[in-house]
Amino acid sequence: MSNTILAGHDFIRDTWYMVAWPEEISADKPLARTVLGDDLVLFRTPNGQPVVLEDRCAHRLAPLSLGRIEEGGIRCMYHGVKFGPTGQCVEIPAQPQGHPNMCVRRYPVVEQSGFIWAWMGNPDNADPTRIIAAPWAHDSRWAPSKGYLHVHAHMSLVADNLLDFGHLPFVHTNTVGAAQQADFSTQVTALTEGVQTDRWYLDVPASRFHQSVGRFTGNVDAWHCFRWHLPAVMSLDSGSAPTGTGAREKPHGTREGAVEFHHIAALTPQDADHTHYFWIHWRNFDVENPDMTDSVHRNVMAAFAEDQAMVEAQHRSVRRGSQTVPKAIMADKALTIVRHQLAKQSTSVD
Ligand code: FES
Ligand SMILES: [Fe+2]
Repeated sequence: MSNTILAGHDFIRDTWYMVAWPEEISADKPLARTVLGDDLVLFRTPNGQPVVLEDRCAHRLAPLSLGRIEEGGIRCMYHGVKFGPTGQCVEIPAQPQGHPNMCVRRYPVVEQSGFIWAWMGNPDNADPTRIIAAPWAHDSRWAPSKGYLHVHAHMSLVADNLLDFGHLPFVHTNTVGAAQQADFSTQVTALTEGVQTDRWYLDVPASRFHQSVGRFTGNVDAWHCFRWHLPAVMSLDSGSAPTGTGAREKPHGTREGAVEFHHIAALTPQDADHTHYFWIHWRNFDVENPDMTDSVHRNVMAAFAEDQAMVEAQHRSVRRGSQTVPKAIMADKALTIVRHQLAKQSTSVD
């Protein structure tokens, strides 16, 4: 990397990355997806187990994503060599035995709470207990909207954007950012592997969307509180409650007269210039209403489109280079902590 903005760290490999929505992979057709520069093929066995292999046949490197899923594995449709879910060759046409040393790289995979996670590093280190819990996925009081963005920017810039509340009143003037939010401070606490950030806006007019669904008669107390899990998963509580109802002292999900949301954003590098951005946004109101699910989806995507335009423009600028050395401001505290933590991990891993 030629610029310090992108030079903070190499991508961490020994971790779980969100690689697909469960409904994207099936036993009918393989899915090709690139993650951390590795070309992957994703599919399900006929009994529904997700499988992630390198998208390379161990015969002559044709993509397995052009192959055929069969009982017991996937068959390369160039010369018909077949590989089991562990990547081991199980059949070679016109040859009595398979090849004991012929195998495709396998990536550990876990399907959990509506996410497909793959471990991109040493499979011996894959620990499923490190995957983020998402209890909202199993609770009928919360309804999800979800989406995906393919961002033409380095993952660290996309992560910075999520870790930074300073941009809300400027990038999101028309969506989630109320102008007066710029004046409220953020409490940032470093964790062992991530950061906790709490930001409350007390006694303010509700943002446009919160007002449209909450129909507040006066000012609100609003909040954005998140936990960041290295390398790049954000678990965010947000919402608005009528001022004077003590929202700040109550746990999320129990606030009187409030519209509340829980959001998980999972960032996965495709390569150094592209990022897969998966998100789920649960709400605690009107949970049976599909129109509301669409409306929340549209609102989240509208806000993210604003972020995407800025971050992609920033990525292009950074790639073009500059003599200027960028300087941190107070609002960068959370992202600075995360960048330090990632830099430490990437040097110890490699
Ligand atoms: S390249 Fe796959 S079978 Fe030959
Ligand atoms: Fe944003």
